Amino acid sequence: ANKLGSKKERTLALIKPDMMTKIGDVFELIYSSNLIVTKAKMTKLTWSQAADFYAEHQSKPFYNNLVQYLSSGPVVAMELMGDEAMSIWRKLLGPPDSTVAQREAPQSVRGQFGKDGIKNVGHGSDSLAAAAKELEFFFPSTIGHGPANTATFTDC
Ligand code: TYD
Ligand code: MG
Repeated sequence: ANKLGSKKERTLALIKPDMMTKIGDVFELIYSSNLIVTKAKMTKLTWSQAADFYAEHQSKPFYNNLVQYLSSGPVVAMELMGDEAMSIWRKLLGPPDSTVAQREAPQSVRGQFGKDGIKNVGHGSDSLAAAAKELEFFFPSTIGHGPANTATFTDC
């Protein structure tokens, strides 16, 4: 915390495939929560890139479906900045299973726009360490690395 008690953080917010039409609503929720978008990139992950991104879940029964879905179409990655950005964005997203979110957090992003456990609109880093790693994944400091801007208009 600085002298004013604020804790400016950066986090990764990812809008998953098929959710492009909701991006305006999601932007409104982000800005009305006093977060700002400091970077944004539209891209399409290969199966292998999606598998790396979700590597922590590789032993889970839903891993293959998750990786398949994440690599199925264009995504928008954003760096969000603000006081407690990491936890605020995860709270905005709501519970991971959209059907639970619809019941328990109907105003959340997943509650409003999610379809099920897999098609749950977005991802948010779950710690500051994860945020640093996931921001580097999408917005690498080394020029020439990371997902290329390969999404095209016809993917949308
Ligand atoms: P997780 O990291 O637990 O949730 P969050 O996205 O809120 O950090 O899970 C990662 C993704 O895996 C989640 O967005 C959707 C998918 N998932 C399932 O498909 N089934 C499940 O039972 C869980 C826990 C997650
Ligand atoms: Mg997670």
